[in-house]
Amino acid sequence: MAEARGREMREEEVRLSEAEIAVHWKEEALYYPGPKFIGQANLTDPAVTERFSEKNFPECFREYADLLTWDKYWHTTLDTSKAPFWKWFVGGRINVSKNCVDRHLEKHRNKAAILWVPEPEDEPTVVITFQDLYNRVNEMAALLRDHCGLKKGDRVTIHMPMVAELPVTMLACARLGVIHSVVFGGFSGEACGARIVDSASRVLITMDGYYRSGKLLDHKVNADIAVKKAADEGTTVEKVLIWQRHRDKYSSPTPLVAGRDFVVNDLLKTFAGARVEPVSMPAEDPLFLMYTSGSTGKPKGCQHSTGGYLAYVTGTSKYIQDIHTTDVYWCMADIGWITGHSYIVYGPLALAATTVMYEGVPTYPDAGRPWRIAERLGVNIFHTSPTAIRALRKLGPDEPKKYHYSFKCMTTVGEPIEPEAWKWYYDVVGRGEAAITDTWWQTENGGFLCSTKPAIDAMKPGSTGPPMPGIYPIIYDEQGKEIPVGAGKAGNICIRNPWPGMFQTIWGDPDRFVKTYYAKYNKNKTSTDWHDWPYFAGDGAVWAPDGYIRILGRVDDVINVAGHRLGTKEIESACLTVPEVAEAAVVPVVDPEKGRVPEVYIALKPGVKADKAMEEKIGKAVETVIGKIARPRTVRIVPDMPKTRSGKIMRRVLASISNRMDYGDITTLANPEVVEQIRVQVQGAGPVQKQAGPEDIKAFGKDA
Ligand code: WTA
Repeated sequence: MAEARGREMREEEVRLSEAEIAVHWKEEALYYPGPKFIGQANLTDPAVTERFSEKNFPECFREYADLLTWDKYWHTTLDTSKAPFWKWFVGGRINVSKNCVDRHLEKHRNKAAILWVPEPEDEPTVVITFQDLYNRVNEMAALLRDHCGLKKGDRVTIHMPMVAELPVTMLACARLGVIHSVVFGGFSGEACGARIVDSASRVLITMDGYYRSGKLLDHKVNADIAVKKAADEGTTVEKVLIWQRHRDKYSSPTPLVAGRDFVVNDLLKTFAGARVEPVSMPAEDPLFLMYTSGSTGKPKGCQHSTGGYLAYVTGTSKYIQDIHTTDVYWCMADIGWITGHSYIVYGPLALAATTVMYEGVPTYPDAGRPWRIAERLGVNIFHTSPTAIRALRKLGPDEPKKYHYSFKCMTTVGEPIEPEAWKWYYDVVGRGEAAITDTWWQTENGGFLCSTKPAIDAMKPGSTGPPMPGIYPIIYDEQGKEIPVGAGKAGNICIRNPWPGMFQTIWGDPDRFVKTYYAKYNKNKTSTDWHDWPYFAGDGAVWAPDGYIRILGRVDDVINVAGHRLGTKEIESACLTVPEVAEAAVVPVVDPEKGRVPEVYIALKPGVKADKAMEEKIGKAVETVIGKIARPRTVRIVPDMPKTRSGKIMRRVLASISNRMDYGDITTLANPEVVEQIRVQVQGAGPVQKQAGPEDIKAFGKDA
């Protein structure tokens, strides 16, 4: 037992996390929001911090919940009796689709709820008013109920691209209390199948095809793969519902399976004009699952609540993104990720804003596309990721200047943003006028955890900012000792308190929930006092003396590739599906455009030839099991893996070589000589190459 634990610890030691390869930048000067923005902002009262301070917790969150229309008001704001399974707004009843649609009809019936921009530029924008949305959500809800027999508590997997039918489908589920599990459209059929199995969905909703970079992709083919994968693992998908990209024609070369596959556009004719009473849901019933990567090979189904989640995303949309009903808001994320759920669909629609959706690639057909869309639709709030900012800047640094749009505020999310990219976003995209919020949070969190309050706080490029109202972070070292604010040291960021947007559990695996997020710093396993249960976020962070937090990256086996969260173990096990592969090790590598990219090191079975075809085969296997987004930048077939004497692969050494960092002492390895061979293979012959300059700082655990 003791020996096993020892080995586990060594296993931890031999990895190198994202946070450890974080590039450091200097503290930047502050930028201040302009009077025009402040003059119209939703949140200008600095007393908000006091109102949401610990002495007013948890009742402070009434302010967010009161933005919603409740069927029945709650009696207990926060119930901690089953810690750390927190319950918010207990006793309350609410329906999400009613809050995002029905309640806006009286005042905003003919206002655009969704503006959908197809990728082909000659296809017109589709305008869906709140009345249209109401009709369509009702009809779809009737279809789900009457054609599929779905009811409250059932799970449905949705594998769709960025089309307006996606939020329609999600809201239809919410209307019935059906739990949706949206799988990012770019994930493979197999990845979708694995999520169908985990959530035990008997209905899959998909689409025939969609446009990406000018091509109409066959998406239906993924449904067949997903259903087969699910069947192989014992889960039967009874019905596959297929939306059509082109209203009156089926656009996929993959045939329909009789009796199983149904074209939604055909079925809906039967439900024209149908009305479905929104199911009044207990606040604590789940609204959706969102799968995300963690430290093991198996993605986690994060279960989000109905009332708490909606309250949190509505509050943060209103006060941090400064969304007003009159705003045209465009978040360029994909709804298949949490950002899209919270800040394309639920938050903006709960506020009756107009939310813009774009089908395709931001740089298609050129890097002026987003700014043309913004100009044409009058977008005044913009939200995107550092990766998109870097790509748009690289391909079209002067493009924004050519278009007449005006953003009052802008958001960035998903990765740390380097000050250089931030400044281009501010000066060129925002014309030096738009306030920027750099929002740090995670799939698990429902909504923002840190960000500046745009009309109150100054902005600091490269730092996410102070915690959100009602969020009380703490940074711990590995031993559980607090690293005080301003200590200049990095550590593990935790949130001391529960908040309404926090997910409820990992679907079907409450033990993993407790173990992953709470076990590390829990003070007393039997306590029902929230103070004993800090939430471990899995990110490294530094807290500057001015109270601003800088996020360095993941401290676990997760890599954030272009803002997409991928598990190294998931990629490794995908590589191992190639029969010739003996061992695989995936490491994060700093990339100037995508933030981080995975590189994979492979040891082949004896007698197998290492060549380009084998590298290609391994890359392809990752695409099949996970999707194109996880494809490693480089597949490096090496003669042997560097190993400890107990046989563990030294991923730390491999990551150091890929990142041109010092790999430290290797004399205790079982095969130290292989390290130099691999180094030469990766970096070329000649002396050890290390990144030069002041950025060559290993941030984590060191003085920052
Ligand atoms: C990273 C996305 C720095 C972080 C909403 C986190 C960020 C992971 C930021 C979650 C930010 C997100 N600055 N890093 N503003 N936002 N991250 O679950 O490492 O897809 O743990 O949620 O992205 O990714 P996820």
